[in-house]
Amino acid sequence: MIVIQTSSYEELSRKAYELMRPVLIEKPDAVLGLATGSSPIGLYKEMIADYKAGNVSYKKMISINLDEYADLPVEHPESYRSFMNRNLFDHIDIDKANTHVPDGLAADKEAACNEYTAFAAAHPIDVQILGIGANGHIGFNEPGTSFDAHTHLVELKEGTRRDNARFFDNDIDKVPTHAVTLGLADIMQAKMIILIANGTAKAEAVRRMIQGPVDTACPASVLQTHPCVYVVVDEAAGYYVK
Ligand code: F6R
Repeated sequence: MIVIQTSSYEELSRKAYELMRPVLIEKPDAVLGLATGSSPIGLYKEMIADYKAGNVSYKKMISINLDEYADLPVEHPESYRSFMNRNLFDHIDIDKANTHVPDGLAADKEAACNEYTAFAAAHPIDVQILGIGANGHIGFNEPGTSFDAHTHLVELKEGTRRDNARFFDNDIDKVPTHAVTLGLADIMQAKMIILIANGTAKAEAVRRMIQGPVDTACPASVLQTHPCVYVVVDEAAGYYVK
């Protein structure tokens, strides 16, 4: 793991984009593994700015998102499909038909999960963007998830729902109880991983991910066994790993 310390969220976003950019330039048909949440928003702004400057085209690229809430209508402003459209896809030339977000509405969730796993296996991710939960989750692989897991339905931990209540009028009861997520085994197939973490709330999770035992109690610790991971942190999130 290579840890890159930065001194602000803007710098963190720029550094993350500097790491990602060569893949976009060298591989016009790259497969991008994307995340939602607050962490990658600055990176997505960098991607949009460089696209608008005429330096990159996403026309032939494919994206595979990590996760989606279960049983939340896709039109809901906080569905991860809506998030991706609003924060990235609506502003670049990617073909929406090539953007993939797990189907949180499928009646047969297991079949939909298996399809998503098969799709990801057939389209190896060139660069995977990750955030990290305060409890060490990546995607929605909560503590205790097997490192061998593929796409599956999860029950979100109360802490995760509390953290995400900020997107649902600060009302935890409005936060979906379940989500569909790519599994840790799927994420580990990515050729290169860039994990973004900012803010004090992430400091302990970042420490456990980097210095703790490789243990399902901290799902992100599995990244210690991946050959190409960059962890880009601001001062607060990187406090214990200086
Ligand atoms: C989002 C995802 C989650 C988030 C994590 C951090 O697609 O998979 O693992 O990356 O919960 O969320 P933020 O960035 O909002 O702090």
